Amino acid sequence: MAITVLIGAQWGDEGKGRITDALAETADIVARFNGGDNAGHSITIGKQVVRLHLLPSGIFRDGCLNVIGNGVVVNPLNLLQEIADVQAAGVEVTPQRLRISRAAHVILPGHRALDAAYESSGGIGTTLRGIGPAYSDKAARFGIRCGSMADPKAFAAAVRAHTERVNVILTHVHHRPPLDADAAAESYRAAAEQLKPFLEDTTALLHDALAQDKHILAEGAQATMLDIDHGTYPFVTSSNATVGGVLTGLGVPPRAIARVIGVAKAFTTRVGGGPFVTELQGDLAARLRGTGANPWDEYGATTGRPRRVGWLDLVALRHAVRLNGIDELALTKLDILSGISELQVCVGYHLDGQTISHFPQDSALLARCEPIYRGLPGWQASVGHARRLDDLPSEARAFIAEVEQFTGARVSLVSVGPERDQLIHC
Ligand code: IMP
Repeated sequence: MAITVLIGAQWGDEGKGRITDALAETADIVARFNGGDNAGHSITIGKQVVRLHLLPSGIFRDGCLNVIGNGVVVNPLNLLQEIADVQAAGVEVTPQRLRISRAAHVILPGHRALDAAYESSGGIGTTLRGIGPAYSDKAARFGIRCGSMADPKAFAAAVRAHTERVNVILTHVHHRPPLDADAAAESYRAAAEQLKPFLEDTTALLHDALAQDKHILAEGAQATMLDIDHGTYPFVTSSNATVGGVLTGLGVPPRAIARVIGVAKAFTTRVGGGPFVTELQGDLAARLRGTGANPWDEYGATTGRPRRVGWLDLVALRHAVRLNGIDELALTKLDILSGISELQVCVGYHLDGQTISHFPQDSALLARCEPIYRGLPGWQASVGHARRLDDLPSEARAFIAEVEQFTGARVSLVSVGPERDQLIHC
């Protein structure tokens, strides 16, 4: 056994949590390699919908060890809250089931305050979780790593010093009130006391697991088009959400990766600002988005913001397949397209009077692109009952075949509803 990687192939919210939850059934370890509590994975278990932000999705599978890797940024207070929420849902979160990398960086109160300050003066629509400032401090070598929580008193002193330093920036540059450095230090000290038993050298743990032929599922947060290097910069998150992030964010070698699965919706959504070539407005957009009455409607799992929606952009999806070496696609939310008489998929762009077939590296160019669509016949019947490809209407099968043909990746999983069993293994 080796590593299976699960990557978001669009702009996030593709339903990765649901697919990881399904794959976690056969995994010994589920390891998060990037991002922080900006992620929001909704998992439906029976009548209950649980939202995970930082905990790996294997937390709901007995016998599965969950690892928060070194590439993740951890807000200790929010992690403890999430652990409490999951425990309230009847799932035990013990150090035997969850390990946190000593090398993961801590999201500090100052990071959240700076994120809010940047956003209030013309930001990009972040989740306000302090992600950008935390990764900035990591790169600038000012960050505090989770390993520091092993000594709560020294950790508290470091949090106080960081908060005092940020206060200078907050008050002088952003003209905002300072944070209470003593309160910050105390709350983080108390959190460190609780999180201490979960700390681990997770790189060594994963190497041992590989040597023992264990199956590791590397769970990506955010997605390809939000990757700091390969996404639609600057409308991106601050980590590598593409496959390279697995190597650096867990400390594993490329040859250990046996399989890369990309998760993509049967249409496209994004939250926050930035170019979106196939974006729809009006009735069709409202229909794809849903009313918000259901937890799986297109409203942010972390912020509650309505998501922007549009047709499936195959040019962007093929780019994600190539960037990540995606072998297999998990296509989610096929059921939402039922009842639309004609579907569109984007198969090229018009840019400044020319036709292009590649995804431009520069967001300013992408913003000028107009979609070239191919129409595909829709289907009327509901598909929620389908458990085999043959159960799907022929038009739905043709839609899947079009995705495979254009992107060059095999569609190996199709989700046709929010329940755990509403999955087709192709
Ligand atoms: P940040 O990650 O909070 O800094 O936000 C940067 C951009 O990434 C914003 O456009 C967010 O809306 C987007 N983003 C961050 N996390 C997610 C996610 O889990 N799903 C979808 N978009 C996200």
